[in-house]
Amino acid sequence: MTLQDFARKIKETGDVVCFTGAGISTESGVPDFRSPGGIWTQYAPVYFSEFLSSEEARVRVWTMKRKTHELYKDVRPNIGHLFICSLCERGKLLGLITQNVDGLHSLAGLPDDKIVELHGTDRIVHCLSCGKIFDPDQVMKGLAGAFTSPRCDACGGLLKSATASFGQCMPPQAMRRAQELSEVAGIFIVLGSSLQVQPAASFPVLAKQNGAFLAIVNREATPLDEIVDFHYRGPIGAFCTQLGPWLSDC
Ligand code: APR
Repeated sequence: MTLQDFARKIKETGDVVCFTGAGISTESGVPDFRSPGGIWTQYAPVYFSEFLSSEEARVRVWTMKRKTHELYKDVRPNIGHLFICSLCERGKLLGLITQNVDGLHSLAGLPDDKIVELHGTDRIVHCLSCGKIFDPDQVMKGLAGAFTSPRCDACGGLLKSATASFGQCMPPQAMRRAQELSEVAGIFIVLGSSLQVQPAASFPVLAKQNGAFLAIVNREATPLDEIVDFHYRGPIGAFCTQLGPWLSDC
């Protein structure tokens, strides 16, 4: 299938659900997790149980979060995020399921009611005991020098970014919404994910099982490449640039 055919498919079918991973943010300067130089090549993932039980593990997580927070200050959405916004503006987007916690889809202007953040967000810090919400900027300012992990000023509980760590329950409302979208998608487009992590990677399969036209746009191979209806192997930015003209009269 050519890009022109795929654009025609989008124009004719609509009901698009996009599913993104860290690969859609790399062209904004945010590293992904499993590419060479990715986050998991720099830091070992900390499981939720370890975060709860080990001050040393919490300091490692906050050291990583402090670095990412600094990075977020300068990053802006790229053509991939804007492509999804353009599908929404054209009335073609049912919703976006993202594994990303960088908030770039929202920053690109996609309405919050179209966004399902499966793994939560780095843009909020909350207390694990009382649920009080904190501004990440204020929390990061307290992480100077040899810091101890931040605590809630209301109840003394542990603070954590509002993200779902390995071993932590997935946000039930986001999971429900992702399932609903996957079951009704006409076209399900995966952009920038290695599709290595469950349960997130089950949604493209669910969509396909429910009759969706499945497309994958990714720089490297994924475990679902054998079942896709359209495959673009390369940078998301190039894909969007090449597809754009074919969608202009959409
Ligand atoms: N264009 C296209 N594909 C890209 C680009 C790009 N510009 N940059 C990176 N990629 C691809 C990589 O080749 C890789 O296959 O995006 C994929 C990113 O995969 P991961 O780094 O594994 O990220 P992701 O799939 O989002 O990981 C899922 O794992 O560790 C957890 O919570 C974390 O949400 C994350 C989840």
